[in-house]
Amino acid sequence: MDNKVYIFDTTLRDGEQVPGCQLNTIEKIEVARQLEKLGVDIIEAGFPISSPGDFNSVVEISKAVSNPTICALTRAVKKDIEVAADALKYAKRGRIHTGIGTSPYHIYQKLNSNPDEIIERGVAAVKYARQFVDDVEFYAEDAGRSDNEYLARVIEAVIAAGATVVNIPDTTGYCLPSEYGEKIAYLVNNVPNIDKAIISTHCHNDLGMATANTLSGIINGARQVEVTLNGLGERAGNTALEEVVMAIKAHKDLDFTTAIDAKQIIKTSKLVSTLMRMPVQANKAIVGRNAFAHSSGIHQDGVLKNRETYEIIDPADVGVKESSIVLTARSGRAALKHRLEVLGYTLDQEKLDQVYKNFLILADSKKDIADEDLEVLVGHEKKEERVLKLDNLQVICGKSCIPSATVTLNFNGKIMTKNAIGDGPVDAAFKAIRKMIPTEAVLEEYLVQAVTRGSDDIGKVHVQLALDGKTVHGFGANVDILTASVWAYLDALSKIM
Ligand code: KIV
Ligand code: ZN
Repeated sequence: MDNKVYIFDTTLRDGEQVPGCQLNTIEKIEVARQLEKLGVDIIEAGFPISSPGDFNSVVEISKAVSNPTICALTRAVKKDIEVAADALKYAKRGRIHTGIGTSPYHIYQKLNSNPDEIIERGVAAVKYARQFVDDVEFYAEDAGRSDNEYLARVIEAVIAAGATVVNIPDTTGYCLPSEYGEKIAYLVNNVPNIDKAIISTHCHNDLGMATANTLSGIINGARQVEVTLNGLGERAGNTALEEVVMAIKAHKDLDFTTAIDAKQIIKTSKLVSTLMRMPVQANKAIVGRNAFAHSSGIHQDGVLKNRETYEIIDPADVGVKESSIVLTARSGRAALKHRLEVLGYTLDQEKLDQVYKNFLILADSKKDIADEDLEVLVGHEKKEERVLKLDNLQVICGKSCIPSATVTLNFNGKIMTKNAIGDGPVDAAFKAIRKMIPTEAVLEEYLVQAVTRGSDDIGKVHVQLALDGKTVHGFGANVDILTASVWAYLDALSKIM
């Protein structure tokens, strides 16, 4: 049996069914183009009968991408199939995905029917769809809870009617991996014409087993997987594309291949997350912000010596620049030194020890230390080397007075003082500084953050200045946020000068 696994992406159909995740046509085209770059084999672009917007999206995606097959969903209803065929008219390769429920819930309750009639309706839908396209996929909705013997009869009949792909959805995410694998194996062994079609998995994640079920499906004979980016989809979602692809890549012993360019995974995940306004959970496998982050000293030390000590995937393989060493109170000097070097600071042992001491004090009151914090810590060390130093600062402000500030600077040893009024004390202080150090630099960002929650806390100030297309950042930290603000401003000005 061929070991290529076809990747059928349904982010734009099953993924888009998530409340709040709806995209407009332009956004769907952007996602479809990125899916093409990612290398998916089939894009399920929508359910054309469901709305004019969905219809239009299938039309426009068919025009916009050329490598993947474009698939449109229908019920086993003639009108659905006609509308889908019409929406696919510009597709280089179009596929109609039609089907009907095959579990007792669907047969007797949802459809108020009986098993033989369901087979007839499925067969009729496939035959009708084949009048429009050569590629017809049939789904047996709720196959996960359907009787295997009956499912085999359905699948045999729809393949005889012309189905090229047969989809076995675990619609409710009910199956255990062993159960789902056995279902696929049962079909492989009991459907006489199964070699005429590709078996597809379509697993939902209600019990958190969608990826495990999908892998069990391909191990037992399926060769197409229906997946979404970031595992988006109805309720708990669908199988995550990135998980299946990387499991196949990591487990060479499985001997499967896909056409996915894994380096595009993160980019695609971020695009989908942003456009669909669905943040990815931090610890999500492969694409979560912590997927390649190491925070404990022991792990950091191990990763810095050999990445593979704690990583089974090279982050570069999925488009992440590097593993991140998250600095916390549990980090050691090796991790701090490494991060500082990445930021461009090479400190001698004495300075490193000093920064590490301050780092531990800060880390004790803060969950994790960002690069900006390190800049502040290193900045404290470097302050004395600056050309622009704050000598004195006096501020008057309050409810019924005009804010004013008197600033005394030491500029390369020359002492100067100026006073200014402003909209507030920070504005007044910055204006006083500009009287002494005239500059065209624009203040693009000014941010004050508390390290912890108390009113006696250290305030961290970040400013961003821009001049002639160049942007510089300045940092200051002090229990007095006005002093911290002036330090940050002088830090940025020193850099721009
Ligand atoms: O989960 C499901 O059964 C589906 C089908 C429509 C393929 O999404
Ligand atoms: Zn589904």
